[in-house]
Amino acid sequence: MRDRLIIGLDVPGVEEARSIVERIGDAGTFYKIGYQLAYAGGFEFASELIGQGKKVFLDLKLHDIGNTVEEGVRSIARMGVTFLTVHAYPQTMRAAVAGRAGSDLKILAVTVLTSYDDNDLVEAGYAPVAPEELVARRAEQARDIGIDGIVCAATEAPRVRGIVGRNRLIVTPGIRPAGAEAGDQKRIVTPGEAIRDGATHLVVARPIVKAADPRAAAQAIVREMTGA
Ligand code: C5P
Repeated sequence: MRDRLIIGLDVPGVEEARSIVERIGDAGTFYKIGYQLAYAGGFEFASELIGQGKKVFLDLKLHDIGNTVEEGVRSIARMGVTFLTVHAYPQTMRAAVAGRAGSDLKILAVTVLTSYDDNDLVEAGYAPVAPEELVARRAEQARDIGIDGIVCAATEAPRVRGIVGRNRLIVTPGIRPAGAEAGDQKRIVTPGEAIRDGATHLVVARPIVKAADPRAAAQAIVREMTGA
């Protein structure tokens, strides 16, 4: 279960990130680096983590013309990263799958950003469509293209599981241990619920990195996952 907890290093710099990883010690094996840290020395830090035997999820949500995505993913695969996100546009997903060929890198598709509702989709130029419908359609496309997994809210996990089948990864943020602050997350579930809903991996940032004792916080979450 410990390897199924991904700790989000949502911090402004490498110094803070390194200190959190040290404090967590062997209670954490898998770390997510997003925009904030990636563009502040995070790529070098990713290599440092990989050198220590940790796994890295680069949450870069790539989207560009096919050739650019394919070559970018090829470079990322050479870094030894474990998970990478791309937006679930068919051309982008096909290019990412081609770019990771021959490596252990797993590509995760982000279907519809959880901050988008019907109005945001219309504003962005889509014909009226419910976000859940677009999530389902993109999950089907991701499956058909051979994407390794989907990032979605844990509340959507059972439905997504029904679409992508038994063997694909389902990675869920929006996790809060019982009694933790929700922050800006709207559809939160506990670690136990997320596992029972079929998530293969949980992404947790603030409840661990902002905790007075990040190691104890990570251990408590792993216990809750194991109990489920
Ligand atoms: O602090 P918290 O546990 O809410 O952080 C969750 C992490 O997952 C953040 O890095 C956030 O950007 C990411 N994420 C999310 N919702 C998504 C996709 C990614 O919260 N739909």
